[in-house]
Order: sequence, then structure tokens, then C-alpha cells
Amino acid sequence: MESYQKLLKENKFWAIDKINNKPDFFENLLHVQTPEFLWIGCSDSRVPPNEITQTQPGEIFIHRNVANLVINTDVNLLSVLDYAVNHLKIKHVIVCGHYGCGGVKAATTNNDFNQVLNMWLRNIKDIYRIHRNELDAIKDEDLRIDRLVELNVQEQVMNLAKSSIIQRAWKNENRPDLHGWVYGLKDGIINPVFEMKANTHIDPIYEYDNL
Ligand code: CO
Repeated sequence: MESYQKLLKENKFWAIDKINNKPDFFENLLHVQTPEFLWIGCSDSRVPPNEITQTQPGEIFIHRNVANLVINTDVNLLSVLDYAVNHLKIKHVIVCGHYGCGGVKAATTNNDFNQVLNMWLRNIKDIYRIHRNELDAIKDEDLRIDRLVELNVQEQVMNLAKSSIIQRAWKNENRPDLHGWVYGLKDGIINPVFEMKANTHIDPIYEYDNL
């Protein structure tokens, strides 16, 4: 059997198992999607959002990319954000990075990864520059990268707060709260490192007054 065929086989077992436990499981999901959470995570295969939070289909709206970045020109992410905030009315946005992130680590090197990845990782290099004093003082390389992972999550939460999508929802509906978390590959534990409640003030240059 080819490896991909195993996925299809396991899928059938899974579907049968769900129905055995709860006959109306799929019927219920068909009509409503009311997740409370938007998850912006790393594409890393070792950080599956539903599994590490023990959530079911229908509970988390998910967007993933390399190193969980929130880029203000990323139409893909902004479409997900807009839909989650304005249609699904989600209450919490979670940016979840992970210690030992390969994308973050790659950004700390001087390797040329060719244009597309260079473009993407440049955003993380900018974060390193902003926090260079703190990061350069950490002598152990793994610890330094792990701290950059935390700062990256913090910066991506702030990038969310800079968007008019979030600011409009904050002003009109006092939601969503923004959360920056980091998952530990070594112990499976999520470490909350940063939080922005709805209507937190940010640097005034980013605050829109005609929302
Ligand atoms: Co990663």
C-alpha cells in the first residue's frame, strides 16, 4: 500500500469511529460553524492545533504558514482574519509559535534561501534587529532562538492589532482578545507569552480614528 493510501484508509476508520460514538456528529457540523478561536500557527507538522488543544472539528478556525507570521500584505492571512472576525465573530485570536522553529532559526543565519523564502524570512530578521540588544546577550544559540520565537509571536500579535480589521472589531464589539503562545516540542506544553485584550492602545501611529 502506498503511504497516501493509508491516509484514506485511516480516514474511513475515523469517520466510522465518530459515528459510532455520536451518530449525529457529521450532521451537526454540516449546518453550523461557530468556532470561538482563530489559530494562526506554524506549518510545522509537529504542531497540529486540534490535537495539542484536544479540540474537535468546528472549534478552531485555522491558518498556518512558515513561522506563524502576520504580514500586512498577505491576502491569504487577511482573508482568513476578515472572515473569522467579521463573519464567524470569533472571540480570540491565537498566534501560536513553537520552540525550535526551523523558520525562525533559518532567519538568524546568513544563508541565501533564494528569493521567495528570503522575502518571507526577512520579516523575522527585522524582529531580530529591533530586539538585538536582548538577543545578542543570550550566549546559548538554542536559547537565543527560543527567545526570538517568543518575540516573534509578540510582534505578530502586535501586527494583528495594527490592522483595521482588528481595530474595527475592537471599537464596535470589544472583541477579539489577542494571544501569543509558544508550544514546546520537547514537553507538549503551550506557554502563553503575550496578550492583548480588546481595545488595548498601541503606538498611536497605527491607530485609525475613522473606523
Ligand atoms: Co515552525
